[in-house]
Order: sequence, then structure tokens, then C-alpha cells
Amino acid sequence: MLFDSHAHYDDARFDADRFDVLDKMPQNNVGLIMNACAAMSDIDRIIEMCNRYDFMYGSVGVHPSDCEGLTEADMERLKKESEHEKIKAIGEIGLDYYYDDVPRDVQKKWFARQIELAKEVKMPIVVHDRDAHQDTVDIMRSSSAKDVGGVLHCFSGSCDMARDILDMGFYIAFGGTLTFKNARRAVEAAEYVPIDRILIETDSPYLAPVPERGKRNDSTLVKYVAEKLAEIKGIDAAEVERITFENAKKLFNI
Ligand code: NI
Repeated sequence: MLFDSHAHYDDARFDADRFDVLDKMPQNNVGLIMNACAAMSDIDRIIEMCNRYDFMYGSVGVHPSDCEGLTEADMERLKKESEHEKIKAIGEIGLDYYYDDVPRDVQKKWFARQIELAKEVKMPIVVHDRDAHQDTVDIMRSSSAKDVGGVLHCFSGSCDMARDILDMGFYIAFGGTLTFKNARRAVEAAEYVPIDRILIETDSPYLAPVPERGKRNDSTLVKYVAEKLAEIKGIDAAEVERITFENAKKLFNI
């Protein structure tokens, strides 16, 4: 069975058929899903899905693009919501210099603050890094993110960055971008990272893998990421499936 370690079923693109899509997961070999939270307004829906589906787990946290205007009261709410039995991580948190829609000092402040929160509640973090590799590593180091561990999702960095992340005890997650034609750097990183430190993900509804690229993504398509990884590692897709499933269970304490 597959573990999709990062998806967003709370997203508006699933409003019309969310439960129809999720109802079909078990029959499509998807055993577990971690739904990542991006904004405070996502939390209620994530909890609702976690309550409805045995296979669904969630995180709570605020994405860098949504962190402007956050308050300490929001941190208190995240802390409280993290007590739910199916909430297993703080995230997704990090830096996004690609969209760069929130001032960088604001992004940095709330990234560091949410790492502190993760340490308070003793939960791993789900890290988002887009075009902010060095600052991401620097803040993870200065905040001692290694104390809680976690995953760097949708990895797009170099092997050097992968080494820095692995040194902090983190997992690295690969998604649909690994299957794209121009994915040379992601493929190199996937060659480099040991299989026992890799997770697979979709980031649904975004980033559907080849051959479904451009369509709305869902967790059934994570099999294409497993197949690509199997090809890169020279092992069976079934083996990738089994190992990445166990890796994610271990990380999220499931
Ligand atoms: Ni995400």
C-alpha cells in the first residue's frame, strides 16, 4: 500500500467531489494520507476529514505564503488543535521566495516561531522550501529543528542541500516533479538520498506526475512517483512502496 505523505484535500479544487475522491482510496491501494495544512482556515476541514477516514492524518501549521498577519493567538490555536489524536505534525511551514508574496522577514519570523511550537508540542515539522534553500537550512539550524525532525517536502534542492537536511535527521519527500522531463536535479537528489530516508507524496491537487501532468492530482497517482523512484534506485516499485510507507509511519508516529 502507498502512503501519500503530503496532500491538500481541503483545497477548493476538491469542493465538488472531495468525499467521492477519498472514498475510493482504499480500493486504489492508497493506505494512508497525510493532509498538510497551509492556512488557519484549513484546520476545521482537515479535522473533519481525519474524523471521517481511518486512513487520513493531518498536520496543523501555516504556509509562508499565508503567514502575513499571524498572531500569537493563532499559535495558541495551533497548539490546541495539535492535541487531536490524528494530527501528527506541524506544517507546512517554511519559506517561499518564488511567489515572494509575503515579506521575507515575516516569512522567516513565522517559520522560526512554528519550529518553536513544534518543539513545545514535540511533533515533527513539514517544511516547504521554494527558491529559499540556504535560508531554509540556516533557520532549521539556528532553531535546532533537528530536535523534532520532520520532512522537507517536494524536494527541489541540490545534493549538497539534501546532505544538510539529512544531517539534521530529516526525511526528504519527492513528488510528481520527479517524473517531469526537466527533473534532472531532482533525479540526482533521489539517487543520492538513501531509500530509508525518502517519502513519496503528491501535493494534491497540484503537481500531477507524468503521465497525468497538468490534471488535478490525487493520491492514487502517487504510484507513478513510486515507479519513478524504483527506476532510479534500481529496485522493485513494491519495495519502494513498502519502505516509504514504513518511513512515513515512523516519522509521523502512526
Ligand atoms: Ni503542500
